Amino acid sequence: MRKSMLFLGFLVFLGLALPGTQGKKIPRCEMVKILRQNGFQGFEGTTVADWMCLVKHESDYNTKAYHDNGSSRDYGIFQINSKYWCNDGKTSGSKNACKISCSKLQDDNLGDDIRCAKKIAREAHGLSPWYGWKNHCRGKDLSSFVRGC
Ligand SMILES: *[C@@H]1O[C@H](CO)[C@@H](O)[C@H](O)[C@H]1NC(C)=O
Repeated sequence: MRKSMLFLGFLVFLGLALPGTQGKKIPRCEMVKILRQNGFQGFEGTTVADWMCLVKHESDYNTKAYHDNGSSRDYGIFQINSKYWCNDGKTSGSKNACKISCSKLQDDNLGDDIRCAKKIAREAHGLSPWYGWKNHCRGKDLSSFVRGC
């Protein structure tokens, strides 16, 4: 009895802990749908396929994605940077142009991520601020990212 309760508790712990550490990986066609519903097609001359390729290479569709390069950090599905766009409390000279806490860009609510990503693309008139897009997507045939969705 006691052991089985412990085991049950362990399973509950795993269930609570794993989503928190691994994040939510958004299925490909689900991501396409989210981008279409939020007006990304044609936004600043970009396509949903451009954004799909960007998200694939920046975060692999993981809402909890995080990268630290020593001087600043990138957060969430669009890998938004703490030097210019969000505040993580440990990036000197942060502009926090999206006026948001970086940790909010790692939760499952994508509304704020979308608002900030569009601000970045609007100011740059495109996707050039994202190295994942510049290095892997620009000028390529990206139709496979939206095929069948
Ligand atoms: C870290 O990333 C930021 C934002 O992309 C960039 O400005 C900075 O030069 C990078 N620093 C290093 C050490 O790579």
